[in-house]
Amino acid sequence: MCGIVGYVGPRPAQPIIIDGLRRMEYRGYDSAGITVVADGQLAARKKAGKLANLEAELLAHPLPESHQGIGHTRWATHGGPTDANAHPHLSADDRVAVVHNGIIENFATLRAELAADGIEFRSQTDSEAVAHLLRRQLDVTPGLADALRAVCRRLEGAFTLVAVDAAQPGLIVAARRSSPLVVGVGEGEMFLASDVASFIEHTRHAIELGQDQVVAITAGSVDVTDFAGRPAEVRPYEIEWDLSSAEKGGFDWFMRKEIFEQPHAAADTLLGRIDPDGRLCLDEMRIDRALLRSVDKIVIIACGTAYHAGLIAKYAIEHWTRVPCEVELASEFRYRDPIVTRTTLVVAISQSGETMDTLMAIRHAREQHAAVVAICNTNGATIPRESDAVIYTHAGPEIGVASTKCFTAQIIACYLLGLYLAQERGTKFGDEILSLVEELAGIPDKMQAVLDSLEPMKALALDLVANKDFIFLGRHVGYPIALEGALKLKEISYLHAEGFAAGELKHGPIALVEPGVPVFVVVPPQGRDSLHDKVISNIQEVRARGAKTIVLAEEGDPEAGAFATKLIELPVVPTLFQPMLAIIPLQYFACEVATLKGYDVDQPRNLAKSVTVE
Ligand code: F6R
Repeated sequence: MCGIVGYVGPRPAQPIIIDGLRRMEYRGYDSAGITVVADGQLAARKKAGKLANLEAELLAHPLPESHQGIGHTRWATHGGPTDANAHPHLSADDRVAVVHNGIIENFATLRAELAADGIEFRSQTDSEAVAHLLRRQLDVTPGLADALRAVCRRLEGAFTLVAVDAAQPGLIVAARRSSPLVVGVGEGEMFLASDVASFIEHTRHAIELGQDQVVAITAGSVDVTDFAGRPAEVRPYEIEWDLSSAEKGGFDWFMRKEIFEQPHAAADTLLGRIDPDGRLCLDEMRIDRALLRSVDKIVIIACGTAYHAGLIAKYAIEHWTRVPCEVELASEFRYRDPIVTRTTLVVAISQSGETMDTLMAIRHAREQHAAVVAICNTNGATIPRESDAVIYTHAGPEIGVASTKCFTAQIIACYLLGLYLAQERGTKFGDEILSLVEELAGIPDKMQAVLDSLEPMKALALDLVANKDFIFLGRHVGYPIALEGALKLKEISYLHAEGFAAGELKHGPIALVEPGVPVFVVVPPQGRDSLHDKVISNIQEVRARGAKTIVLAEEGDPEAGAFATKLIELPVVPTLFQPMLAIIPLQYFACEVATLKGYDVDQPRNLAKSVTVE
């Protein structure tokens, strides 16, 4: 939700900032802007729409050469996606420029105060107030970092702010509260960004900024303090991702590349977590083992795709641990006075580790003294930092806005957690855990087999691209897959798609079925109670009403094909493991349909990768 970039060093700043913004565009693409400091003055260009519009503007109206600047790519909150609302925002005298990610909650009060001071706003944003406040503060505390600290103490809400002052060339300052910010430490040059992807091309040395900290960078120095100006402890780290993981690598879309990266992401998420005897060793589970044994309720909180991963995890965790497990939308959790105690284990699933709804939910859970485990893909993000323990999904950067490889990696991480709890609590025998762990370890190869047989999905997409409504059905763990398959289609193809529990169909949704409507059905493996047969009956019910049935079932299922307009075969796995395979053709189908429609698959309208507002 808004990407931020800053550079100071010996090289021309503009290309570094624009390249950095290109890698940040997944965070928002309503507008983009850049300000550089040259000859003691600020020069700014900003444009509504994607980064390409800003690049065209820079060609038409070039900036002066400069070695210091800041840039921003926006996901609009306050004020529409216009040139005027694009960041950076400048003070009235054009001396100070500010970019902002987050929401300044007390902006109306601040705006009124500034207006009373005679300041005329040039935009409808909350962010512009910061530029004016900072400029006013410089008259009181001339140092830019001192001034920013003073301003931060007045702000309410979540923010990352980066600022430059034309009168203090060579210096960039930034502040962070509940929104991400990392410093890239180069050889005689420094970078600032919302995410390391912006600068991994230039340096792998990074410093993660903590909550309520201010950093001042010059080409050769980094100085971090808290908002009161006290020196803060810094956490330097080496970036493990390489540049290729932030590039498309020959694919048309990041999303398609990430779909194909799933075997790798799954294998990396399993790596180092199973010892040679098949025992799980989650070294990162810093929660007291006695507490893990005394847990009497598990609550999973997450949003969107991560929530669907949580819905799947519930089936496995309850089955293996016999501990009741609830799954809750993070945005609903704290508003319903949830029952959370010292013996509740809260599991927060988040790819970005920044989702504000999830962050607020875990803060609420910790206030009730619950232990929180984060399942996260982003090293050092706010959610893992504020949790008691973290299990990282080592899926690598996910840049396509529609989550794919992180979804399957999240299921794997949840399963590792479930099996670990079963091991610690003794609810499964060692050999049972071993066989489940072996099954999990076999998933990457089976994912590869699914990926190798996706070709027919292209023809299917061509066949169905003109349809307006899609239905997805599943039972048990197939139900969240139906929800996720529908979500993928909605978010990138802008089509009406709904996922239902197949058994619910007859209680209402079957009224939607009319001749020609495509119905995707996830069929559970054969021989699991009567679940399989029930779903086969559901296929017949929609088929009898003229639906086109696209059936996902395990290889060799003799009944699944009988009523299928199109049969998609999946490798044979136990029911609980099927979601990690069944979702792949659905992700691919959505990607194909959106491509055929000519949409921007990686940057669907109205969405942003990290949702850092509530
Ligand atoms: C959908 C999607 C979103 C995210 C949701 C949570 O493809 O990506 O629904 O899953 O916004 O994001 P994280 O996992 O970063 O907390």
